[in-house]
Amino acid sequence: MDEKVKMIIEGQTHEFPVITGTENEKGIDISKLRGQTSYITLDNGFGNTGSCTSGITFLDGEKGILRYRGIPIEQIAEKSSFVEASYLLIYGELPHQDELDKFALSFTKQAPLHPDMLGFFEGYPTAGHPMALLSAMVCSLAGYYPELLKPEPSEEEVKFTSAQLLSKVRTISAYTYKTSIGESFIPPRDDLRYISNFLNMMFSTKEKEYKIDETVVSALRALLILHADHEQNCSTSTVRLVGSSWANLFASISAGVCALWGPLHGGANQKVVEMLEQIQVDGGNIQKFIDKAKDPDDHYRLMGFGHRVYKNFDPRATIIKQKAHDLFDKMGIHDPLLDIAVKLEEAVLKDDYFAERKLYPNVDFYSGLIYKAIGIPTVMFPVMFAIGRMPGWIAHWKEMRENPASKIGRPRQIYTGHTERDYVPMEGR
Ligand code: SDX
Repeated sequence: MDEKVKMIIEGQTHEFPVITGTENEKGIDISKLRGQTSYITLDNGFGNTGSCTSGITFLDGEKGILRYRGIPIEQIAEKSSFVEASYLLIYGELPHQDELDKFALSFTKQAPLHPDMLGFFEGYPTAGHPMALLSAMVCSLAGYYPELLKPEPSEEEVKFTSAQLLSKVRTISAYTYKTSIGESFIPPRDDLRYISNFLNMMFSTKEKEYKIDETVVSALRALLILHADHEQNCSTSTVRLVGSSWANLFASISAGVCALWGPLHGGANQKVVEMLEQIQVDGGNIQKFIDKAKDPDDHYRLMGFGHRVYKNFDPRATIIKQKAHDLFDKMGIHDPLLDIAVKLEEAVLKDDYFAERKLYPNVDFYSGLIYKAIGIPTVMFPVMFAIGRMPGWIAHWKEMRENPASKIGRPRQIYTGHTERDYVPMEGR
């Protein structure tokens, strides 16, 4: 029997269908609400509003569950590669060896930038934030591949565009870093795999080849996998909304990069390390920063804590924390910021303010410490998040565009401005 709910509005009873997901999540389908009642719903920040149905990622914030296409993130982070996890998210199944090889080869082929794109780096300020350049260059790929801008691209064209984005995001990011430190570009190589190629482009120089350390590759592989998708977060919802107008994939992803840049979202990993450095400079006075975050009159927040969905531990934070300790032990690194982070986490978890609000460390709390240990500058941390999130953004754009029921996103509003009034000529103001 189809489940329904009843709503009584101005004495009239209205029924609306209930939709139940494969994990028994329940949603009230209000697509006919305004037509039936002239009412709309209002939900600041969409905390109670679903924008779509999706089969890509399932997360349960209360239980700290995260699965890509049904497979627990813990297994994927331990056993898979970032390229394989990207294939799983985009195409829905783990690839056969020949499919994986073909997918990986497309990244090798698409890694180099069009020579004319190198001019972007010459004109950009070396101190400019890399997320601005990443968003601009991702969108500008549309200028170099106009054949991919059809409002209704073919499956092959989406596949080719996806390979462009998944591969070139590394090259653009590495070249942005090289520009910021005044070093020559190190081009991608055909003999290196996804992450090793990125590390080589980032850290080799014309004089000295970077020595690829498998410990570093393993830590970065886990980080990229853990960032690969997270259902309808701010940046993924942005990609879906922009794509819902039939904007091309380059433009949609570019918008996602901008949304991710915000310090409340993907920019938080940069802010976490800056916060830990502030605590260190301030003599390690953790309680001072906790009290500041608790002060109702102060907008200050402890970066890396809290989450719209996770009201328990973010399962990614648990894995990343362990990866940080493993990496530091293997590389013989002693980073005082890790000590501060561990002490801060312990103090926060004991504090009623955070416990009452169910504020736990999120994916951004420890990730920056790993990036820092690898030698990636703080300002590049959100860029690392974007490299990781690229397959998720693409998977959601593709799912939305392939769904015949998808419509252009156009929310309503409740108007709270002036009621009707007349124009007043200048002399009368
Ligand atoms: C990511 O959505 C996703 O899935 C995102 C992400 C992904 O993979 O895509 O997981 C990645 O963005 C992780 C979040 C990274 N951001 C941060 O670490 C920034 C710090 N965190 C917060 O700003 C906040 O927790 C958010 C933005 C993450 C969530 O905000 P919500 O859900 O809108 O919660 P809220 O702002 O309504 O806060 C509820 C209460 C408030 O206090 P009261 O008004 O009830 O007294 O909790 C407080 C907030 O002041 N609070 C914090 C806090 N986070 C929330 N207080 C101090 N420090 C914090 N970090």
